[in-house]
Amino acid sequence: MEALNGKHKWLVTGCAGFIGSHLIEYLLKNNQTVVGVDNLATGFQKNIDDVLSQVKNPDFEFLKVDISKKEIFEVLQGKEFDYILHQGALGSVPRSIKDPLNSHQSNVDGFIHLLEIAREKRVKKFVYASSSSVYGDHPDLPKFEDKIGSVLSPYAATKKINEVYAGVYAHNYNLNSIGLRYFNVFGKRQDPDGAYAAVIPKWIAAFLKDEAVFINGDGETSRDFCYIKNVIQANIKSAISETKGHEVLNIACQAQTSLNELKDLLLNFLKEKGHDSKSEIEYRDFRAGDVRHSLANIDKAKKLIGYKPTHLIKEGLAEAIDWYIENVK
Ligand SMILES: NC(=O)c1ccc[n+]([C@@H]2O[C@H](COP(=O)([O-])OP(=O)(O)OC[C@H]3O[C@@H](n4cnc5c(N)ncnc54)[C@H](O)[C@@H]3O)[C@@H](O)[C@H]2O)c1
Repeated sequence: MEALNGKHKWLVTGCAGFIGSHLIEYLLKNNQTVVGVDNLATGFQKNIDDVLSQVKNPDFEFLKVDISKKEIFEVLQGKEFDYILHQGALGSVPRSIKDPLNSHQSNVDGFIHLLEIAREKRVKKFVYASSSSVYGDHPDLPKFEDKIGSVLSPYAATKKINEVYAGVYAHNYNLNSIGLRYFNVFGKRQDPDGAYAAVIPKWIAAFLKDEAVFINGDGETSRDFCYIKNVIQANIKSAISETKGHEVLNIACQAQTSLNELKDLLLNFLKEKGHDSKSEIEYRDFRAGDVRHSLANIDKAKKLIGYKPTHLIKEGLAEAIDWYIENVK
C-alpha cells in the first residue's frame, strides 16, 4: 500500500489487541503520531512491545483505560486527533452468549463514548470495526451491505447498534464515519489461547499437538477468511477517503473456504513445515449463534475507498504460518 502523506494524529482503540496492534504498527512505521487505548481485557502489553521493538523513535502514547467508563473522557482531555480507528471491543459470538452484559458494556457503551470523543475532537473520519455477524440470518450469498437479516447473537446485536449510532451521529452532528464489516480476520498476534480463540490458531495448536480437532457441524460451513494486511489497508483507505456521512463496507476477499477445506490447507502448510499431524478430526453439533455461510461482496469497498485485497487465504497463511507455529501452545 502507498505511504501516507504528511504527519497526522491518530487515536487507535483496542491497540493491544490483534487488529489494533497491526494498525499502530502500520501508522508508526509511516511516521504518524499515535495515541493507543486499551484496558487489556483480551489484548496484551506484549503486542504493543512487539510493535515498538520494530520502530525507531515511535511517536506513540499508550493509555490503559476502559472505554466503557466515563474516565475515557478525562484521559483524552486536551488531546487532538485527525482520525479515530476504533477497534476496542469484546469479540466472539460464544463469549457474548455467555455474558451479554459485558459485551454490551464494552461494545455499545464504549462505542458511544468514542462517538462523543470523535464529535468533540471534530475528527475528519471515524473508522470502526463492525462485523459480518450483522448479516445474521439473511440467506443471500454473497452478502451486500444493504441486505441484512435478524442478528443471531448479543455480539452481532452490539455491532448492529454501532452502525445505527454511527448513522445517527452522521445525521445529527455531521460526523463522517465508515463501519468496516470484517469477515474472519487472521494473522500474526491473533490470540491463540483461551476458550474464545478463533478457528485458525485453535486448529493449528491442536494439529501441532496431535490433539483432536473439532469441527462444528458437517464441515461445509464456510467463511470468507481475510488476512490482516487487507484489513489494515481498508482502515487507512477509509480514514483518508473523501466519503461523507456514514457508510458500511464489507472487508474480506470475496472468496469462500469451507471448514473442511481450511482443515486440509492447514494440514498441508504444517506438513511443508515438517509437522505431519496425527490429529483425529471429530465432527460435532453446530454451534449456537453461528451463521452457516459467510461470503462478502466487496464491490462497494472497491468503489468507495479503492480497497483491493492483496492477500487471499493461501497467501496470508504462507506469511503467518511461522508465527502461528512459534506462538500457539
Ligand atoms: N478478528 C476478527 O475476525 C473480527 C471479525 C469481525 C469484527 N472484529 C472486530 O474487530 C475489532 C478488533 O478485534 P480483534 O480481533 O483485534 O480482537 P482483540 O480481542 O485482539 O482486540 C480487541 C481489543 O479491544 C480491547 N478492549 C475490549 N474491551 C475494551 C474496553 N472496554 N476498553 C478498552 N479496550 C477494550 C481488548 O483488550 C483488545 O485488546 C473488534 O471490534 C472486533 O469485534 C474482529
